[in-house]
Amino acid sequence: MTTYITTPIYYVNAQPHLGHAYTTIVADTYSRFMRLCGERVRLQTGTDEHGDKIAEAAECEGVSPREYVDRISGMFRKTWPLLEVEPDHFIRTTDPEHISTVQAILQRVHDQGDIYFDKYTGLYCKGCERFLTEKELVDGLCPDHQQAPLEISEQNYFFRMSRYQQQLIDHIKENPEFITPERYRNEVLSFLSEPLEDLCISRPTSRLTWGIPLPFDENFVTYVWFDALINYLTGIGYPEGPDFEDFWGAAEHVIAKDILKPHAIYWPTMLLAMGVPLYQRLHVHGYWNVDETKMSKSIGNVVRPEELVEEYGVDTLRYFTLREMSFGLDASFSSDGIITRKNSDLANDLGNLFSRSLAMLTKYVDATVPPHTVDDESDVLLRKTAASMLVSYRQHMANFEFHRGLRAVWELISQANKYIVVNEPWALAKDPEKASRLGSVLYNLAETLRLLTLVLRPVMPGTSAKMAAGLGLVEDDQSISNLETGGVWGGIPVGTRLQSIESLFPRMDQKKKQPVAAVNQQKKSNKKSSAKVNGEGALAQAENIITFDQVQKLELRVAEIVSAERIKKSDRLLKLTVMAPEERIIVAGIAESYSPEEVVGQQVIIVANLQPVKLMGVVSQGMVLAAKTEVNGESRLVLTTVSTPVPPGSGVA
Ligand code: MSP
Repeated sequence: MTTYITTPIYYVNAQPHLGHAYTTIVADTYSRFMRLCGERVRLQTGTDEHGDKIAEAAECEGVSPREYVDRISGMFRKTWPLLEVEPDHFIRTTDPEHISTVQAILQRVHDQGDIYFDKYTGLYCKGCERFLTEKELVDGLCPDHQQAPLEISEQNYFFRMSRYQQQLIDHIKENPEFITPERYRNEVLSFLSEPLEDLCISRPTSRLTWGIPLPFDENFVTYVWFDALINYLTGIGYPEGPDFEDFWGAAEHVIAKDILKPHAIYWPTMLLAMGVPLYQRLHVHGYWNVDETKMSKSIGNVVRPEELVEEYGVDTLRYFTLREMSFGLDASFSSDGIITRKNSDLANDLGNLFSRSLAMLTKYVDATVPPHTVDDESDVLLRKTAASMLVSYRQHMANFEFHRGLRAVWELISQANKYIVVNEPWALAKDPEKASRLGSVLYNLAETLRLLTLVLRPVMPGTSAKMAAGLGLVEDDQSISNLETGGVWGGIPVGTRLQSIESLFPRMDQKKKQPVAAVNQQKKSNKKSSAKVNGEGALAQAENIITFDQVQKLELRVAEIVSAERIKKSDRLLKLTVMAPEERIIVAGIAESYSPEEVVGQQVIIVANLQPVKLMGVVSQGMVLAAKTEVNGESRLVLTTVSTPVPPGSGVA
């Protein structure tokens, strides 16, 4: 089976930014996922190099369009490897093969009577490079570019798009997956409920020369969208190339909502006119804003992929964007958000699970995967979670619900962290009679890590490769390179030698988190803030007003205390092991109010995203909230809790 996945070809009037990066990461992740499913995949991206906008940008720089497009197209091409994106083909609309095929198609569609010459007056938006209908305007402006469109009246060539309207409606209705998510399908159907106008597909050379000349009239060049959309065919050798045969039947396009209409209306009607089967699926995602604001040069908040990679690392960027955006809806990027995810999901949950498990395998069984011989309930639960993770992961990844696929993966990570707490390998290691149980527990952990290496491969290829190296697995081993064979429990061979590797995700300096930094600032200045809850000092009491946004930055969770002990040489501190839902250690200043025995089993509320701090030699990963009161003239702390037990890790809003 084959898969052909494309990104839009990006205009070369601007440099790559986070929006371009996201679409391209999505397409790359999907292509890697499909490869993992055993498919033959072709991933295509490229640059859209003709049209008004490009001609203008070149003029502004005082260079020829050719010189200009070569430079910017090169920037896009160089960006993708930085994001670990590996396209099979990078197409440029200035490629000679593309130009000649576009001309051949125009000639054919013209000859069959689907292109005609007419006079037209319309409202043209340069930003969109298309005529807008009155209905599309908001207060007389293009909603995407906040510019009034120009009224242009000229003679042009038109494509009889209206002729194919009914056929397109029928196709969309018969194929619910043709445009996804559903909200965009509905949007297109609603648009199609009104009569379609024909599409103007030429520009007079008196107004624009930077375009593909119409083969049947030298006084005109081709409208940039008619030229650009055809890249999806020319890039795979349409009409006669063998790759066209192999891949077109499996074509899937990824775009954002801004170019829905050209992809869901112009493109399918063009294909119908050309007698080429329609693409399989169109996947439409929302827009990335930055700090809740539209990304724009004038605001100065355009985020560049290379800077993000430099600052956070490529896998963190890939993971964050895929996990944070619900595919189809808008999302907001902030350094705060990406650092939080890096520290909590990647460093804490995944990184800790990996390093703890590897450390225990090294310490207790000489860095060699032991056999699994003794089964118990916790093993069954872990295997079940792994099995349901695989089902849900496959389904969501195939449906472009990456955030959901990753959520399922993190459920397994959290279950594995609990598995360690429940089984206490360090205790088993002290009792020689429990050696086979210890081996079984460590086997299950190694196997869980192998499965994680497998499913994280499309999302974080570099991290997955490091994990594979740590587990002593070879890159092209079926157990980590194929979901079919690798998705079966028990794939890690007994006797595999593990290797030591560097930490997967070093935690990031939280000082970069602006709003939290502000809260920290407040904490420092507030001497009254309690050092009684944990040694580092509690969150400042509300002497100063903080905004709702600042409150939202606090990650409060319900945590269950699973064990507690006194910290030597400290009267005040208890070392708590809590599940929230993953295991973490919190050092709390409650020893004068509670004995260790009293707190075990209690559900408390913690601040989960506090910067870790070392207290009396123990790293504390959070803060337990407690009320301060006085009993018989003595100050006392009373732990906060919930009125009914809830699953550990539940958020507190
Ligand atoms: N050249 C046309 C596409 C022709 S495809 C046959 C074009 N180019 S573009 O450079 O403007 O790219 C638009 C695409 O870039 C969006 O559809 C989306 O994939 C990506 N993004 C640009 N800004 C974005 C955000 N702020 N957020 C998410 N993606 C966005 O249109």
